[in-house]
Amino acid sequence: SKKPVRVAVTGAAGQIGYALLFRIASGEMLGKDQPVILQLLEIPDEKAQNALKGVIMELEDCAFPLLAGIEAHSDPMTAFKDTDYALLVGARPRGPGMERADLLAANAQIFTVQGKALNAVASRNVKVLVVGNPANTNAYIAMKSAPDLPAKNFTAMLRLDHNRAASQIAAKTGKPVGSIEKLAVWGNHSPTMYADYRFATIDGQAVKPLINDEEWNRNTFLPTVGKRGAAIIAARGLSSAASAANAAIDHMRDWALGTNGKWVTMGVPSDGSYGIPKDVMFGFPVTTENGEYKIVQGLEIDAFSQECINKTLAELTDEQNGVKHLL
Ligand code: NAI
Repeated sequence: SKKPVRVAVTGAAGQIGYALLFRIASGEMLGKDQPVILQLLEIPDEKAQNALKGVIMELEDCAFPLLAGIEAHSDPMTAFKDTDYALLVGARPRGPGMERADLLAANAQIFTVQGKALNAVASRNVKVLVVGNPANTNAYIAMKSAPDLPAKNFTAMLRLDHNRAASQIAAKTGKPVGSIEKLAVWGNHSPTMYADYRFATIDGQAVKPLINDEEWNRNTFLPTVGKRGAAIIAARGLSSAASAANAAIDHMRDWALGTNGKWVTMGVPSDGSYGIPKDVMFGFPVTTENGEYKIVQGLEIDAFSQECINKTLAELTDEQNGVKHLL
């Protein structure tokens, strides 16, 4: 049988953690033949550490055959030791009266520390997914704080936006969501992201002419996907957790195990593709194979798409400039 791999998860006692850990431990992320050791990080605060103990008791009580070990940590330097996968979920939420700049600064602090810890102690092949918001900028900070690790090992989660877009298209066309391919979400995980179905197909048939409704694209589809997070908070009183955890599983599984030519969306450091400046952590359509992702090349960007991409890029550039002095 396979040797266990180490999976670090931060914010492990939070909402997303609760929806995520059991699925990792059951083999949904890395395969039903891959044992895992969970290295869980929470803040040193007694309440958080106690909550983490409770989650660990429940993980034990599931008796997952693939769960080869569970560790609780309050220090990233031990939590990330030799880790092969790191899901950075914990972040500083926006408190009442907190300005955007304060939020960016508080998170810059967290992700600088965690990036340095990954740099110092993680596996040299670690695959990092940042979920905690602002996810793209936090991933950028972690990447910049880990100069000895390849930049390509750092990614941000756009998969929830991708899955939300797929589900809206399935509803609009009346087709099964699993039949939709070649969907792309460009840019920032924020309402400015650009969900793009111009290349999408359903059972090989082009989606755009099937929908044939540009008014719907601009005035219903894009705002619905962009504001979905807010709609869930308004309805549930809490932010999306199960769907976010599901997207994290999808992202890591596809990165590790490959997509067989299917497109998925990942936030990755730009290599200059589509005029996005190098290193900007940007949502792109990618395919993955042998543990590596490749940005889908050669897509035509029309005037409306360029306008949308410019807008989300401007927001990201602004965020990343806002933290540069902290790096
Ligand atoms: P939560 O507040 O329920 O849990 C967060 C946990 O992280 C808490 O237990 C907290 O103690 C812990 N934490 C905070 N700072 C930490 C640190 N420095 N090290 C380790 N742990 C730390 O929040 P929830 O609902 O689980 O969401 C987590 C994050 O994910 C939020 O930032 C949220 O905005 C983001 N999110 C991102 C999505 C995406 O698509 N990229 C989708 C949904 C949520």
